[in-house]
Amino acid sequence: MSRLTLWLMLLTYAELIVVALGSFIPHDARERSSESKRASSTVSQPVIWEDLADIEIIRVDDTFYYSASTMAYSPGAPILKSTDLQNWEYIGHSVPSLDFGSGYNMTDGNTAYVKGIWASSLKYRPSNGQCSPTGPWTQHAVFEGTCYYDCGLLFDENDTPQVAYGSTNIQVATLSSDLTSQVSNSQVFSYDKYVEGSRFYYINGFYYILGVQPGAAIEYVIKSSSPTEGYTGGNVVANAPSCPVSNGGAPHQGGIVDDPQGNWYYMAFCDAYPGGRIPVLASITFDDDNFPVLSDVNSWPSTVEVPLDKNVLSSPTGTDEFSGTTLGHQWEWNHNPDETAFDVDDGLTLRTATVTDSLYQARNTLTHRVLGPASDGTIEIDFSNMKSGDRAGLAMFRDVSGWIGIIKTGESAQISVWKDITMNSDWTTNSIGALETSKDISETSVFLRASADIRPGGAATAQFSYSTDGATFTDFGTTFSLNTTWEFFMGYRFGIFNFATDSLGGSVEIKSFDLALSD
Ligand SMILES: *[C@@H]1O[C@H](CO)[C@@H](O)[C@H](O)[C@H]1NC(C)=O
Ligand SMILES: *[C@@H]1O[C@H](CO)[C@@H](O)[C@H](O)[C@H]1NC(C)=O
Repeated sequence: MSRLTLWLMLLTYAELIVVALGSFIPHDARERSSESKRASSTVSQPVIWEDLADIEIIRVDDTFYYSASTMAYSPGAPILKSTDLQNWEYIGHSVPSLDFGSGYNMTDGNTAYVKGIWASSLKYRPSNGQCSPTGPWTQHAVFEGTCYYDCGLLFDENDTPQVAYGSTNIQVATLSSDLTSQVSNSQVFSYDKYVEGSRFYYINGFYYILGVQPGAAIEYVIKSSSPTEGYTGGNVVANAPSCPVSNGGAPHQGGIVDDPQGNWYYMAFCDAYPGGRIPVLASITFDDDNFPVLSDVNSWPSTVEVPLDKNVLSSPTGTDEFSGTTLGHQWEWNHNPDETAFDVDDGLTLRTATVTDSLYQARNTLTHRVLGPASDGTIEIDFSNMKSGDRAGLAMFRDVSGWIGIIKTGESAQISVWKDITMNSDWTTNSIGALETSKDISETSVFLRASADIRPGGAATAQFSYSTDGATFTDFGTTFSLNTTWEFFMGYRFGIFNFATDSLGGSVEIKSFDLALSD
């Protein structure tokens, strides 16, 4: 793997989650209280229909935390929390800025699409004392020279940091207590097949390392009583069971977690393009040899009963008016943003940050995962301050992109649909695309909508539309085909953009973003 991958692996485990000890309920008190009001709820699949791949899932006290891959999106490695395994809320990112080279800043026309954060790891370390998973986070490298490919972090029974990593030949590196250097490193297991995506656990006296054979979507596990040697197994945890979402790929590359009552679960993702990779949940048991396994190794449940109170922390749908002065944690920029070119102040002001013809080379495209199975993303945009040559609007953003937006030409403005913006296989711009249709608009504010259907095996389309009153929308342009190939890894996102083709100086104000399920 590249140096870039090395850096991201190092930093994603460099800082560790610690939750204030004051929030802990004594263990036996918790057992009694849960006995007296033992609730139950049904987790439906997918757990959340958003692109959140390469799962690390942990629990601290009554709260579950989840981290996922974000590639070049910034900030990276989102952290979500839940108390019922179904309803998740974005609470932060563990990588505030992707400090891996100029491409991540889009300097000199360079870009870093598909590089960046892969398979981040996240663990709770009680000995760290009081701090919060919401941050602030700092980053540092362990050392240069080894790529901890697809690493899973663990603090062993002596609080020593251990990192399982590698493909096929699984290695464990022991790190210094402050995680700034490597103490030792050894190969602990060799598969006779390609296996990657390590996740590392210490459960009831045993160390476990999960790994996945990605093409076959088979999850394996090895086990030892020592973190650094003596591993046996290579047992199957999940043998490519069918995704509970129709036409989704078999669930794989996940993590395991227990609830406060000691029931164990495996959360993995299904390939579900064009939307990306979406999490699904299953109960697991430990077999007679103490290996974790799906209750039926070949079959994934359509729902899971959990003895937890249903708890909706926040709704993924609704209207974001960009109130306050910071973005919500569900937002990620296409690359590190130019911080001087936007403001959040009860509305989002996007000043043009790049002069380019290519959407892919424009800085400060603000993205939001598409919510499945089908959703409408709608922005209200005030474009009274655009400059001639500027283009701003709402994209379906991926390696094949299209948008509805405003093109400013001289003193006039045209509402436009632009399509066929494509990347090369090295994720540079292949085509800047072309205008499909446009017409003059006399207003200075408009609602723009993309209605996307991301069901795998489904229509894989988006229809653009606009409205001048926010109530009646008019379809504009023909249906846009969402590309369903996997190579870009990340799924389609709504992308709010503003770039200049002539000169900087213009701006737009995004008054709101509304996300609504549709059918
Ligand atoms: C990227 O931008 C950040 C913030 O402006 C800056 O601190 C960093 O040095 C830049 N990195 C590179 C490699 O240009
Ligand atoms: C999807 O994207 C891939 C990679 O860019 C390309 O080869 C393929 O032709 C695209 N398919 C469609 C239907 O656009």
